[in-house]
Formats: sequence, C-alpha cells, structure tokens
Amino acid sequence: MSEARTEGERLAELAKRRGYFFGASGAYGGAAGFYTFGPQGAALKSNVEDAWRDRFTVREGNFEIEAPTIMPEPVFEASGHLDGFDDMLVECPGCGESHRADHLIEDHTDIEDAESIPIAEVEDLIADHDLQCPNCGAHLAGEPVEDFNLMFETNIGPGSSTPGYLRPETAQGIFVEFPRIKEYARNSLPFGATQIGRAYRNEISPRKSIVRTREFTQAELEQFIDPERDEPDLESVADVGVTLYPAAEQQADDGAYVETTIGEAVESGIVGDPWIGYFLGIAREWYERVGVDMDRFRFRQHLAGERAHYAADCWDAESEVDGDWIEIAGFAHRGDYDLSKHGEHSDDDFTIFRQFEEPKRVERTVVDPDMSVLGPEFGGDAADVRSALEELADRDPSAFEGETVRVTAGGDTYEVDVDVTNFRVEEQTLSGEHITPHVIEPSFGVERTVYTILAHAYREDEVDGEKRTFLSLSPAVAPTDVGVFPLVSNVEELTARAEALADDLRAAGFSVVHDDSGSIGRRYRRQDEVGTPFCVTVDRDGLEGDAPDSVTIRERDTARQVRVPIESLVAELRAVESGEKAFDELVDTYELVAPGADA
Ligand code: GAP
Repeated sequence: MSEARTEGERLAELAKRRGYFFGASGAYGGAAGFYTFGPQGAALKSNVEDAWRDRFTVREGNFEIEAPTIMPEPVFEASGHLDGFDDMLVECPGCGESHRADHLIEDHTDIEDAESIPIAEVEDLIADHDLQCPNCGAHLAGEPVEDFNLMFETNIGPGSSTPGYLRPETAQGIFVEFPRIKEYARNSLPFGATQIGRAYRNEISPRKSIVRTREFTQAELEQFIDPERDEPDLESVADVGVTLYPAAEQQADDGAYVETTIGEAVESGIVGDPWIGYFLGIAREWYERVGVDMDRFRFRQHLAGERAHYAADCWDAESEVDGDWIEIAGFAHRGDYDLSKHGEHSDDDFTIFRQFEEPKRVERTVVDPDMSVLGPEFGGDAADVRSALEELADRDPSAFEGETVRVTAGGDTYEVDVDVTNFRVEEQTLSGEHITPHVIEPSFGVERTVYTILAHAYREDEVDGEKRTFLSLSPAVAPTDVGVFPLVSNVEELTARAEALADDLRAAGFSVVHDDSGSIGRRYRRQDEVGTPFCVTVDRDGLEGDAPDSVTIRERDTARQVRVPIESLVAELRAVESGEKAFDELVDTYELVAPGADA
C-alpha cells in the first residue's frame, strides 16, 4: 500500500510498477516529454481510442482517415502554424534551463490566464513579482521573453531543400485532404472526418507525466457544415446535464459555475453555437462512460485572448486532478479559416457546390475581345489586356458605357475601343454556388483522458481485514476484461479447467489473463490493482461438489462473488461488462459465495 501522496505521485508509482506507462528510453537516461505505454497502459489507451472511434466515428456516421505525421512546409505556412504556433520562452541566466514564461506567472501569482498576456507585459510581471528559476533559484527579472515555435522541424529526403514538420495537430491531415474526402461524402454537407494519431509539440517544459508531453495522441473530428443550412441533432442531447464555466463567469468577481442542460445552454446563448453544444453533450456522456468522475469535470469557455489563431469560439473539457484543472479536450469553432487558407495557398478546390433551392436567373457581363485587333496593337501584352478587360467588366460594367475603355496591365495603361471588346450583359441560369464549409472541431487528447481515468479510478480500502489498492476502471476501457484462476494451483484438474475456460472466454471476445501463481488472495489483488472488473475462479465445488460445472464470478469493487453455471458464464459476463446488467442482478439470481472465500 502506498503512503498518502498527491494523486499524481501515487499514479506515477502505480503506473510504473504495474506497467501502465513510464519515461521512454530510460536505458539512455531518457528524454523529457516522451513516454512508453507498457502492456496495461497500451491496452487501456487502445480501448479509449476504440471507445472514441465507436462514438465519434461509427455512431456519428463519419469517415476515419490516417494521414502522414510529417507534412511539407507549405502546409504549415497556409495553416498559420509557422507564424503563430508559439509559446513564451524565458531562459535562466544561471543554469540555462528553459521555462514557459506564462506557466511561471500562473504558478507563482494569482493570474490564471497568462498565455493571453502580451510578451512585454509578461516581462514586466516577471520583474514585478521577482520570479526565480524553479531549477536553480536565479532571478529572472530582466531576462528576455521570446516566442518559441513548438513544431519539430525535419528535412524530407537528403539535403535541406525540402523542409518538413512533424504535425502539431492531426487536424491538418484532414484539412489538406478535404478535396478528396469530400468526394467520399458525395460533395454534400454536413459530413465529418476523424483521425486518431500522433501529434508532436516541442513543449518548452513538459510536465505532469503524460499530461504535457512532446509526442502524444489526438482523436480529432472535423465536422464540415454549411453555416447557413446545417443544424445538429440537438434534441438528442438537449437533456444532458453539464457544468459550464463561461468566459463571463471567469471574469466576474463572484463568478460561478452554471449547472444546466445542453438544451438550455444553447437556447439561452451561453453556448453560442448549436454544433458546439451538440458535441459538448455527446462528449459529456462519452467521458462518463469511459470512467471520468463527473463531480471532477467541467466545460470551460476560452477567454478571448486565449483562443488559438484559427478559433472563433472554444470550450475546453477539463478534469480535476490534485486540485488542478487539466484541459482534456477542446471544442473549437474554426469557421472557414483552414479551408480558405489551404484554398488560397494551393491549387486544389476547398469549396463545396451548394445547390440553390430554386435555380436563379442572374445577369453576367461578358467580354470577348477581338484578338486580331488586340494582338497587333498591344503585342506581347495583349493577353494581359484581355484579362484586365474581363476583370474590369466583372467589377465595373459602367466603364464600358463610352466609346473607349481604359485598363491597366503590367503597370501600363491601355485604351481599347469598346466595340473591339465585344462587351455585353447576358442572362444566365445558375443552379448553385461554391461555398467554403465551416468547421466545428472536437479535439481530444488521449493521454490526458487516460491520465484522468486512472486518477479518478484510484481507490484504497480493506478486504477481509487487509488493505488493498484498486482501480475502479469502467469495463468499457479496462485493459483486461476477466482474470481466470484455479482456486489452488497444485490440483491439475483445476488448472486444466481454468486454462480451457480462459481459452473459451478469449474465443468469445474477452481479453483474459490466466494466473495460477501465488495465493488466490494475491491473484485477486494483482487484478484489482490493474483494474480488471471481474475474476472467474474454478474451484472444487464447481468440479464435483454440490454445484458441478459452475465457477465463481467476483466483482472487483465490492469483492462479492456469485456461483454461476459455466453454460451461463459468457452471457452473464457480457451482460455485466456492457452494463446491460448490474452485478446486483447476478447476486439476486445466483448463490452468493461467502466472504473469505477469496482469502
Ligand atoms: N486541433 C486542435 C488542437 O490541437 P489543442 O487544444 O492544441 O487543439 C487538443 O489540443 C488536445 O490535445 C488538448 O485538449 C489536449 O488534450 C491534447 N494536448 C495538447 N497538447 C498536448 C501535450 N503537449 N501533451 C499531451 N496532450 C496534449
């Protein structure tokens, strides 16, 4: 049993001891901000990803893609990450350690949102509060604070002529492929594209174990909508209860949480966009399902200065661990920012054709200059003159009302007879127009979700007079579904039956650990500590006693055990795993095995 420490310390110790996660490359001293997930952690993380995929891709009817993690420089010129994806860096004059200036201010003053403060003011705050280096204690007053771009740069191929970057968000892989993904959506809005994959940020000071790392996994959904026509299915989440912390409450002296429902929050305008409201609703339900404690969970709206360069509005899902709030997901309204930028910077088409409800009759100006006149008159500039005439006809048709018209091309002015331009106004029938879709983006950090789940699942209690530590993980994400044991390991018949049963359960789709080493009590504790929700034990009574062909099922959190016929085992385990049945129902149906049987 661990001594009482912070939740984070207890978790780091358990995570390392039981194979959840640990600092990577330890044999070579490690590298800050990189973690390896051990067998339990990798299984938990992959279950969280599967649960996310099931809810946000499959059930929403979205498309999942997998794009490369390295992308060429023009992608990030267009997205704004090359210029705007910076954190504030201050270097210690004593030990040379780099620090995030805004974090130093937040950690040592009452200021909560230092990220949005301009650099010059941050320098002043460091001096005014006489902030010191957390590593060596040197005074940081007077040290310059600089913007530091968080992207990892590399070269694509030998040489340095083709710079590339490790993507800082999976989202850009989706945006860049929009011209092809829209084909799969039959060029029709709304549709969503998702991606679960690695993102990389050269964080100035990685911290809190897997909470702020340099390589991590995002699960992102880009919902493409027609802002004038598309609405979410708000009705389906209208009654979901949420704890909101709007920007106005954060700024008020007596600011408080707003306990409300999604329906009311959208109707009252607290959540300004119904799509954001919709995703907050399904996210709230999803987080509860995977085991986040809803008493330690809130949605917080970004303050104006805190929003990313692309976001019009943003809410974060936050979980509380050790008294601190951790951002575990962001829900941003990105408007048409990304698709417009990629449309401007590339030759591809980032729009969607929107059909009018009724075809429209419109007037359109046409110029069709006589090039046999323009050619000899303007020589090599004739084509530019033609383009300038077309552009002018579009912009200012009245310029063609006189006998001649003047245009500028390549810095020179040209005068052209209007007759030669063949200017006319024609009527046309249009069936639709090209629009740039807007994007609503729920963006989840997988490691931070795993961290929260583990922290919120950690429990200590006493069973049969003995202290135990256990993880009350939701069966939806627990690394192992079932532990299968012979009651004693030295009876061959019991061991053989337990091994066969473990194989049968694996074939039925359960992830199973078979364990026959040590006392049965010790084996239960091992599974409790890694959060296995149920253990199945083969004992003598179940072989040949009063209840032949039966086993016991033990529930992790209460340590209660019931005796169940083997023929019902798979169905009953499925029912309690999926939540379709409570363990109480098994207790009502079957014989309860006396406490102490697991000692
Ligand atoms: N595409 C939007 C985007 O990337 P973000 O708020 O920068 O938005 C989304 O990141 C989520 O990714 C965060 O809510 C967080 O859970 C996770 N995340 C961001 N930086 C991280 C880091 N350095 N380490 C671990 N997770 C991180």
